[in-house]
Amino acid sequence: MLIALGSLKSSPGVTTAAAALSAMWPASAAGEPVLLEADARGGDVAARFSLGPEPGLASLSVGARRATEAKLLAEHVQELPGGLNVVLAPPTAENARAAMTMLDEDGRELLRALAVQEDFAVVADLGDLSPDGHGWAVAEAAEVLLLVARPVLDELTRVISAAEDLLARCAASGTRLALVTVGAGPFSRAEIEESTGITLAAELPNDAAAAAMLAGRPDPRGALSRLTGRGGIAGLPLAKAATSLAVALAAEHLRVGAESHTEPEDGAADGAEHEPIGASA
Ligand SMILES: Nc1ncnc2c1ncn2[C@@H]1O[C@H](COP(=O)(O)OP(=O)(O)OP(=O)(O)O)[C@@H](O)[C@H]1O
Ligand SMILES: [Mg+2]
Repeated sequence: MLIALGSLKSSPGVTTAAAALSAMWPASAAGEPVLLEADARGGDVAARFSLGPEPGLASLSVGARRATEAKLLAEHVQELPGGLNVVLAPPTAENARAAMTMLDEDGRELLRALAVQEDFAVVADLGDLSPDGHGWAVAEAAEVLLLVARPVLDELTRVISAAEDLLARCAASGTRLALVTVGAGPFSRAEIEESTGITLAAELPNDAAAAAMLAGRPDPRGALSRLTGRGGIAGLPLAKAATSLAVALAAEHLRVGAESHTEPEDGAADGAEHEPIGASA
């Protein structure tokens, strides 16, 4: 499955949320989850962990011209201290944009192949989700697009302004759109959902310690700590919230998959037993 995260203009903690979600995603027989850094403004993870950007998104986007099987991804990952597998975006905007443009032009089949993989999660950090942003090929292939925002007036106002377009675009591609907030704010869950019209999938806490580990601090090579892996951040509030979100997304994926394999009686869908994450209508 393919889960995408992005934000509108501000930098609320998308890369951190994507790293936490992939680090805490339950491993499966199909393999460890992969964090796909697909931010056309340039990646941060290579610099944060003192890694070279190759192999990474640039080599993946070139490879996607010739091969479209999901297993291609494994050739382009690097492992962070603690074991998290990442496809690193080039650090410069110029190179990252070139890679994302190539992925948009030649990588749609590969993205579809990643999305339909059962039991194997790819978590994509798209950075900016503006309408002409470069992340939309990935967002449109994804099962769920998580719009990350801080629950404060200016950021929510931006979400409200963009909501109609985002919902329409996601509905057209069959992607469920949901919100993820980072940190505290003055608004209740109900107020946020009602004003934006978008389901709130998770409220991630401010957690400086976990965010620092996920950004390679204090030791980018991991000699002093296990950093980004489950063992490094587990127990911290951000990791707990990311685990709950991962479990809910994985359960929803299974439920939707099971439904699509079941013939509905009289052409009607099964009554939902619980609220799905995100809206696709
Ligand atoms: N949940 C959190 N708790 C505390 N600090 C956080 C949290 N999430 C992010 N941060 C901090 O905020 C800063 C920005 O985070 P991050 O790089 O994840 O944001 P982003 O939305 O990806 O930004 P950009 O738009 O530059 O890609 C970093 O210093 C990070 O450590
Ligand atoms: Mg980022």
